Amino acid sequence: MSTLAEAAGRTGVSVPPAAFSEDLYKQELERVFGRSWLFVGHESLIPRNGDYLASYMGEDPVIVQRDRTGRVRVYLNRCRHRGNLLCVHDRGHAPSFVCSYHAWTYTDGALTGVPRLREEYRGEIDRSKLGLVEARAQVYGGLVFANWDAGAPSLDDYLGDARWWLEHFLLREELGGLEVLPGQQRYIVPVNWKLPAENFGGDYYHFAATHGSVVGALAKSSDKRIAATGATTAKADQPRYYCVSANYDRGAAHGFYEVSVGDAPRRQELALAEQIGPEAVAWFHERERLLNEKLQAFRQRPYSFHVANIFPNFSLIGVGSAFYGKGLIVHHPRGANRTEAWVWCAIEKNAPPPVKKQQRFVLMQRQAAAGMVAPDDHENFERISETIDSGIARRVPFHYEMAMGYDREDPRPTKWIGEVDWPGQVTPQISEVNQRDFYRHWKRLMETA
Ligand code: FES
Ligand code: FE
Repeated sequence: MSTLAEAAGRTGVSVPPAAFSEDLYKQELERVFGRSWLFVGHESLIPRNGDYLASYMGEDPVIVQRDRTGRVRVYLNRCRHRGNLLCVHDRGHAPSFVCSYHAWTYTDGALTGVPRLREEYRGEIDRSKLGLVEARAQVYGGLVFANWDAGAPSLDDYLGDARWWLEHFLLREELGGLEVLPGQQRYIVPVNWKLPAENFGGDYYHFAATHGSVVGALAKSSDKRIAATGATTAKADQPRYYCVSANYDRGAAHGFYEVSVGDAPRRQELALAEQIGPEAVAWFHERERLLNEKLQAFRQRPYSFHVANIFPNFSLIGVGSAFYGKGLIVHHPRGANRTEAWVWCAIEKNAPPPVKKQQRFVLMQRQAAAGMVAPDDHENFERISETIDSGIARRVPFHYEMAMGYDREDPRPTKWIGEVDWPGQVTPQISEVNQRDFYRHWKRLMETA
């Protein structure tokens, strides 16, 4: 039996496999997923009043609906009578939900219909107390987040430093924002949700080893468009890499990494735009002009970050390139050793059609269940998971000590030299700071009853 103390023991420097065990999983659902702001979908998928989509918060099924007044609300997808799943479709339009078991009916979360109310219940039922259980919901740049915890900070405070990175490089509201394509890729992998989450949030280190074959194949591709989109991740072309741990000091641990700077990424992107056509070039220049305007006050302008994780399980990919679709990925926990990944493809709303096509193609080519990139990661996560909870192996902690000394919690003087003035704790080298903060925050939540 692993204890929390064992699991949380030295998190931040090393993480014991007990942190991934069955023993702690239920507690994790309550203490981590019951208290954090969780991404449940994108507003563009529910444009009209009455539109809804089905999603999850941890293992809890939820309905995300735009109510009759236009407000986005999130309800537990569970009938208050006998707990039946109320909404059985992925997405649609429904002014009311009627339970398939005994036909209780809910409108904007309120219980509005109970068959045989007068005859059998004789009015002895207080419908006002039997509405759907509702989570706090907030929309940020079209991203819908929800939280079960009434005492949690606002979404703005929770995102904190992360907002700057999301606003400038993902949401691109000055260009019309994101458009999320309907439907999503879903796949189940036999791994703990924290393995992909910490990878998206800070593991630049794995790239060369895990994805070396993909980088090689892209570089050799005779299709110049494909080769060029791979080039933004080619190490030789980028002068520096940074990890950014955002908002750890204010109650979350969001990680951004592979921040590119300098002119090389821009030149590669421009070359790709030229291959796509004049429309793409004009769009690219305007996109760049607007971004430069926003960033002119900063000493050094980042071109973008490529990958991120918003604590706990909302991951982003493809942000580093104008021509890469933005993957909005949720790693839903489905057991200590089981994760269901949902991958939405977001494209930039005002991009010309050939750019949108390219964005969609590149994201699916890399991050789909059978794509060129994601399966390489999952193979490693699966091999880790196979023995994570075995007899002797569970006593041997994992190592997270790369580039110690940059952490806010490190007792030694920080190595940070203040080269850049970007928000967040920025590390001017490949590091594991983001993962350390991820597990420190996880531990903080798990230790608080
Ligand atoms: Fe929903 Fe009975 S379980 S109406
Ligand atoms: Fe990877």
